[in-house]
Amino acid sequence: MPKIQINGRELEVPVGTLVLDACRTAGVDIPHYCYHPALSPVATCRMCMVEIKGMPKLATSCTTSVPPPPKDNPEGVAMEIFTNTPAVADARAGVMEFLLLNHPLDCPICDQAGECKLQDYSYEYGSGDSRMAEVKRRYRYEDLGAKIVIDKNRCIHCTRCVRFTQEISGTWELTVAQRGSRLEVTTYSGKSMDQNAWAGNVVDLCPVGALTSKDFRFNKRVWYLKSIATISRLSALAGPIWADVDQNKVHRFRPRPQEGKLGTHFISDEERYAYHAFTADPASRPVKPRLRGVESTLEAVREALQAAGRIAVVGQGVFGCDSAQRLGELATAETLKFGSGDKFLQILLPKFQTSADGVFNRRGFSERGYRFSKLDELEQLVKSGEVKAVVFLHDAEFSSQKETDRLLEIAKAAPFSLALEVSPSALGEACTAWIPVANYLEESDFVVNHDGELRRYQKALEPPRGLKTIAAVARVLAPAATAVPA
Ligand code: SF4
Ligand code: FES
Repeated sequence: MPKIQINGRELEVPVGTLVLDACRTAGVDIPHYCYHPALSPVATCRMCMVEIKGMPKLATSCTTSVPPPPKDNPEGVAMEIFTNTPAVADARAGVMEFLLLNHPLDCPICDQAGECKLQDYSYEYGSGDSRMAEVKRRYRYEDLGAKIVIDKNRCIHCTRCVRFTQEISGTWELTVAQRGSRLEVTTYSGKSMDQNAWAGNVVDLCPVGALTSKDFRFNKRVWYLKSIATISRLSALAGPIWADVDQNKVHRFRPRPQEGKLGTHFISDEERYAYHAFTADPASRPVKPRLRGVESTLEAVREALQAAGRIAVVGQGVFGCDSAQRLGELATAETLKFGSGDKFLQILLPKFQTSADGVFNRRGFSERGYRFSKLDELEQLVKSGEVKAVVFLHDAEFSSQKETDRLLEIAKAAPFSLALEVSPSALGEACTAWIPVANYLEESDFVVNHDGELRRYQKALEPPRGLKTIAAVARVLAPAATAVPA
């Protein structure tokens, strides 16, 4: 690997590494707008300029790569980069002044305030002055359909959003029109972004507040939000996401990019808006177990379960591995652990959606002995009387009507049935007993995704008072399993 020097500090990086990435490896942050690791480089913003020894002018670090070592001196330094010279500081200040010429000073009402690269870099690298004496260019904000709003006054023409629709979603709604100071990002006439199932990503990509989400707009100031590392629950890829929360309420989901994994920069709108399912008023959620239609206690349910006899469990693969493990301990025999969940996704971006499976911890459950597609066998065991009690861990959203009907049959045929659910479904109603459990944002656990990667998620919300996690409920019920002969 060639040796390079960054501000006098020597390091080795592979040939072809972008200077911007090499600097980041060395802990030197290079300001940038148009560069994005998942998009093609265009070098339009000119914010990432660095000085390179031997080059007559400053170079854009997002398009300049590290060359091989010098032929006549393989041990020598291939490139000397300087990021802290007066020329670099001048260039950055000049770019900031240029980008702010027409930019409105509307940070107090801008959704991006607090996470705006224009604010950050202006503070860090700007000169603080503007020579703009003319009246600023003005546009009215426009709706790009029901999901996205564009405020062209704030746009700095980095074209990240345009490149996203061309290179990632392939939907080509956005383009750049006009020239010079009239340059504007717009949609091809008559097009909205509503048909784009991944449209919300342009909001994350926009480094300023030009593209905002109608769902989040004017909802919350970002500095009140705490970002908790979690995962998307809608696909077996279990994509890493942030849950942004404040005062025990989740306000948005957004991608949590992982180094070297380009697919993690983007999430579908379905995944993005999935947080709405977790915003119900905690006071409206049932927290007490029910036994034969009346409110009861965990201990009473445990005694009823124990009295029933041989226990089988049906774990839907959309819960964490710890929950799966604890639930599995309730089964009287290893062979009595069954898996459920048969949701599948439409593949829209094959490059990133490498699995159509919509059951995000199927692999984690399988590794813990749960057998999927074997509900027929369980039904036989229940009908023949070999299994007396069935414990379901269930979320109605992840079972088709066909599977739900099969689960209902089993619940009705079993002398005793118990459902652990976040909110009651038809299955829960049909069971002899029902226990409410915390949802996945209310606990920490991990899953094994479709690719075999372990993905952890952290507790983002406090569950309503009195509500336990699945693992905690299973621990209380566990003595029932040990008391029943195998
Ligand atoms: S709208 Fe945002 S992402 Fe698109 S070009 Fe303008 S600044 Fe860049
Ligand atoms: S980030 Fe390099 S020119 Fe924009």
